[in-house]
Amino acid sequence: MTDAAFQRCILPACGATAPLEDTSFHCPACGSLMDVAYNWDRLRPPRQLKDFEVKWARRSDPLEFSGVWRFRELFPFARDEQILTIGEGQTLTQRADTVGKYVGMNAGRLFLQYEGMNPSGSFKDNGMTAAFAHARSVGARRAACASTGNTSASLAIYCAATDLMRAVIFIGSGKISYGKLAQALDHGALTIQIAGDFDDAMTRVQQVSQQLGIYLVNSINPFRLEGQKTIMYRALEALRWEVPDWIVVPGGNLGNSSAFGKAFIELMDLGLIPRAPRLAIINAAGADTFFQLYERQGLRWNGGRMDQGKVDAYLHRIDAANARASTLASAIEINRPVNLPKALRALDRCGGVVREVTDQEIMDAKAKVAAGGLGCEPASAASVAGTRKLRAEGVIGADERVVCILTGHQLKDPTATVAYHSADPKTFDEVLGKRGIRRANFANRAVQVSNDLDEIVKAIEVYA
Ligand code: F0G
Repeated sequence: MTDAAFQRCILPACGATAPLEDTSFHCPACGSLMDVAYNWDRLRPPRQLKDFEVKWARRSDPLEFSGVWRFRELFPFARDEQILTIGEGQTLTQRADTVGKYVGMNAGRLFLQYEGMNPSGSFKDNGMTAAFAHARSVGARRAACASTGNTSASLAIYCAATDLMRAVIFIGSGKISYGKLAQALDHGALTIQIAGDFDDAMTRVQQVSQQLGIYLVNSINPFRLEGQKTIMYRALEALRWEVPDWIVVPGGNLGNSSAFGKAFIELMDLGLIPRAPRLAIINAAGADTFFQLYERQGLRWNGGRMDQGKVDAYLHRIDAANARASTLASAIEINRPVNLPKALRALDRCGGVVREVTDQEIMDAKAKVAAGGLGCEPASAASVAGTRKLRAEGVIGADERVVCILTGHQLKDPTATVAYHSADPKTFDEVLGKRGIRRANFANRAVQVSNDLDEIVKAIEVYA
């Protein structure tokens, strides 16, 4: 570990610190969330972001090949020998004009950053590799997470590839898509399905990790978020270090939004960018705690003095009504986001907004993303559906430059995709209808024909 890095309570009024080796991930003084903090004057941050370009020529070194670690001067908590990389972060930020047209942007203004290209197929690998460097330095032998599927897939693949730790994952029964469950099982994770949802699993995993001393890799772990900052460094890199006007990201446990905010705050503080982009966090309407608190109830960071009473009262109300998170975008089916205060801080410094989108809007946007030449899972498409909404409201201008983060791979949730395109009303209803989705507005239906050459030729002439 480097001695110029440490952990610090996120609340400025507290500011208690903890050594880098601490694995409780809560403030020892007040119990709040922790940041990884740096004494920058004892470190050597780059003088300009362009300096990172020299690394492009050094791709034979695994640390410079990694789309995470090649930026390690901006999160220097680990020594090079501690780092375990499996080639994460080779992702694409692609200009997407047809999707841009769908959301109402002018040509050349919408970019989609496909984090599905990571080894386990989601953005989680950016953070998992960072957590593994920390876990290795503290000698952890077992790691746990609660997950809606992607964190568990990421933990499972890193455990399998590095043999550093044994993976223990907690998932809500019937709550994760088959692609993700398949990964956890295939990579050999101890998979514990609890009778409950993600919010229940999150509570349990924290209790169990504490009791058994298991290393926790949920995004409450601040080292994970250090790795996820690089998603933004790559967005800037793709735009030749120009700051976009907007970053749009789905919000679940709010780890990404928190990491993005921290990345921009630090880059501004280091004088490496002149301003932050605005940040739009998109909830699914069936899991919209953050939207309700931020937009409807005016909850704000307020210099670290956020109104916790408001949060507690809201959660108490939904508990009393037995309201559980419910959305087809299972990755963000979360009502109790653990990083809520950090996300408020991010919105405060980035001038952000929160919106909610329906499952109908999500699935239509997802089809448009795929028709435009990329693909993503339902939760990821919330970013595109949210951009469309913000365009319609006039919050985002048609000529502003927007980067939407596509957080997970297209094949993570084939059940939802096939049901959307299905011509069979029963399949549609079972998967989508019961979620309030009425129509597949951009369905591409398979054509049924008999096994007859003339019929097949006729069908092709009619449809193509
Ligand atoms: N998109 C995808 C594909 C996700 O898997 C998640 C979170 C999010 C967005 C939300 O990101 O939590 O940083 O706000 N998935 C977690 C999991 C909760 O367990 O895989 P967030």
